[in-house]
Amino acid sequence: MTEQFSKKAEAWSARFSEPVSDLVKRYTASVFFDKRLAQYDIQGSLAHAEMLAAQGIISEHDRAEIERGMTQIRSEIDAGSFEWLLDLEDVHLNIEKRLTELVGDAGKRLHTGRSRNDQVATDIRLYVRAAIDDILALLNGLRGALTDLAERHADTIMPGFTHLQVAQPITFGHHMLAYVEMFGRDAERMQDARRRVNRLPLGAAALAGTTFPIDRLRVAKTLGFDDVCHNSLDAVSDRDFAIEFTAAASILMMHVSRFSEELVMWISPRIGFIDIADRFCTGSSIMPQKKNPDVPELARGKTGRVYGHLTGLLTLMKGQPLAYNKDNQEDKEPLFDTIDTVLDTLRIFTDMASGITVKAENMRSAALQGYATATDLADYLVKKGLPFRDAHEAVAHAVRACDQAGCDLSEMSLETLQGFSPLIEQDVFEVLTLEGSVAARDHVGGTAPNQVRAAIVRVRQQLAE
Ligand code: ARG
Repeated sequence: MTEQFSKKAEAWSARFSEPVSDLVKRYTASVFFDKRLAQYDIQGSLAHAEMLAAQGIISEHDRAEIERGMTQIRSEIDAGSFEWLLDLEDVHLNIEKRLTELVGDAGKRLHTGRSRNDQVATDIRLYVRAAIDDILALLNGLRGALTDLAERHADTIMPGFTHLQVAQPITFGHHMLAYVEMFGRDAERMQDARRRVNRLPLGAAALAGTTFPIDRLRVAKTLGFDDVCHNSLDAVSDRDFAIEFTAAASILMMHVSRFSEELVMWISPRIGFIDIADRFCTGSSIMPQKKNPDVPELARGKTGRVYGHLTGLLTLMKGQPLAYNKDNQEDKEPLFDTIDTVLDTLRIFTDMASGITVKAENMRSAALQGYATATDLADYLVKKGLPFRDAHEAVAHAVRACDQAGCDLSEMSLETLQGFSPLIEQDVFEVLTLEGSVAARDHVGGTAPNQVRAAIVRVRQQLAE
């Protein structure tokens, strides 16, 4: 039997009169990237063999032999001594061939009632499920690190921007918690995608099911799937779960990228709101003064490749008739690269979050420019009885006067301010301070330090769940 394999390596070769060329072999093979699936392939095979034996389709002896062989293969792969052969096309045939070398006919019986089509779909689902679990743990870690940062800066005032212009004072803690919310929704999306990933294709065989009396629910249970895929054609052919995962990963990376953009701006000496630890930056080979925020810039750049993978997978799927087509072999590299990119990015950002130093003085002086408390003055006038639109108008005149005089609203005398509205009294100056402004936004979701602290409690409860 072993000889038969070595004479003609391809598992399906008996039907053919001439071997494929080396170029075709290389073009069609996937082993050099799908060998990543090895541990899931073995896990799936063991569950399949266990069910075949339980159903009396193979003997208990064969099952035990398969298990013995797979244990050995696993340790060979872990030790790096497993010999992957291009001739054997993919991870599935490489493992099956080695199994047959090790345990003989029992190895050849493993493929009873299954096809590589349902096998590979199962492997990918197991792989994506494990990736989602890792991503969820890392998102928790990142949210925790950002929440710690928010807590240290619940009272630190910075300018909030709209249109990249100073808008209203906010706290840095509040700003960090905005990302904690975004990454929280990313976790929800991942959890939701996981529900649809976690269904078993095995049993669909090539496309139509199998003539053997298999027990799919048993295999699903062994592998920790919530359910089976309920249509064999759909089970082997659709990769919507991979697309959905990549879509969730793209949104996650979009959030990372927005955060990166802010870090890059904040670290720029022109703005100087923060510093990030040197280990996340590099110098310039020509300009000795430079400290470049490479990590956030690269994360912003890598977002593009993840979007690219999403487009790639959608395009891969769109023209395929039912059921399995070899096109689907192309699902793996984009998926693997998406997973690698997201995992590394989340790891590095969690570490970086704790390496952020805040330059509170610079934030404060920036918040004092640009009439950040103009809305507070308008709200003040409204509370004294002026309709909001009139208040808006009065403050606009005051801002214009400040512009001409080159001062802030809080630096104008009471008499000058009263020129814009007789309703203005001495107590206006409390409203015009940065502290007064943020403290006044004291409701759920507002920037008041009180509310930031309450939000932190809420997030920490969530993280502990
Ligand atoms: N390497 C293949 C893939 O990734 C496995 C399935 C092959 N099935 C087939 N009928 N050629 O999709």
